[in-house]
Amino acid sequence: MKKDERKYVALVTGATGGLGTAMVKHLVDDGYLAIANYHTRSKAEKWNEEMKAAGYDVPLYHADVSDYDSVGAMIEKIQKEIGTVDILVNNAGITRDGAFKKMSFENWDAVLKTNLYSAFNCCSHVINPMIDQQYGRIINISSVNGQRAQFGQVNYAAAKAGMHGLTKTLAIEVASKGVTVNTISPGYIGTDMVMAVAEEVRAQIIKTIPVGRLGGTYEIAHLVSFLASKDAGFITGANYAINGGQHVY
Ligand code: CAA
Repeated sequence: MKKDERKYVALVTGATGGLGTAMVKHLVDDGYLAIANYHTRSKAEKWNEEMKAAGYDVPLYHADVSDYDSVGAMIEKIQKEIGTVDILVNNAGITRDGAFKKMSFENWDAVLKTNLYSAFNCCSHVINPMIDQQYGRIINISSVNGQRAQFGQVNYAAAKAGMHGLTKTLAIEVASKGVTVNTISPGYIGTDMVMAVAEEVRAQIIKTIPVGRLGGTYEIAHLVSFLASKDAGFITGANYAINGGQHVY
C-alpha cells in the first residue's frame, strides 16, 4: 500500500500524561494512527478506559524510555503489529526540582535519562526505517526552561536544552532523506507537572506570563499535529516557543 493510502503512524511517548493525552486526541482527530507509549501499567489501564469512553481507541505500548533496550523492544513490536513509525513525538518527561546545592546525583541522573537519553533512545530506533522509506517526522518536546534559566531546574534545563541540540544536528543529518526534526518548547501549561509546583510559587510564575494564564494542552497538541503533517516538510531544525510571551528572544 502506498503511504498516502494508509494512515500515518504516530508514536507519542509519555502519552498518558496531560500533554501526551491532548496530543494523542489531536492526532487521532486529524486522521493519524496514534500509538500511546506508557510506563506505569495501572495509570495506562485507567487512561485507556477514559480514552475509550471519550471515543478514542488507541493502541498502548509499554517501554521505559530511559532504557535503550526497552525502547528497542517496543519499536520492534510496533513494527510487527502495526508498521513503521512515521511520526515520533518525544514527549515523556519528569521533574525533580530543587536548588543545585542540594541536588542529588540520583535526581540529576533520573531527569537526564528520562528527558534526554529517552530522545536518543527513541530516535535511534526509528531513524533508519524512516530513512529507508524516505519519510519521517520527529518532534521533540522541550521546555521554555531549556531556553532560559529557572531556579531549581538545573537537571531539567540541561536535559531540555540538550534536546534541542539533538534536534538541530539530527535535522541536518536527515534533511535530504525526507525526515524532519523539530523542537517545541512549551511554557507553563496546565498539567499535573505544573500543578505540582507549590501554589504560591506557581502564582508568582503566572504573574510573569504576559498572556496572563497557563497554556492549554490543546495549544501544544495543535502544533504537534501540524509539524507531523506532510505539509510541514520544509520546517526542520526549528524550535517553536509556546509560552504566552514569558520568554521572548
Ligand atoms: N529565585 C531565587 N531564589 C530562590 C527561588 C527563586 N525562584 N526559590 C527559592 N530561592 C531561594 C530560597 O529563598 C532559599 O534561599 P536561602 O538559601 O538564602 O534561604 C534558597 O533559594 C533555597 O530555597 P529552597 O530551600 O526553598 O529550595 P529548594 O531546593 O526546596 O527548591 C523549588 C525550591 C522547589 C525549586 C522552588 O523554588 C520551586 O518550586 N520553583 C519552581 C520550579 C519550577 O518552575 N518548576 C517547573 C515545573 S513544571 C515544568 O518543568 C514544565 C515546564 O516545562 C515549564
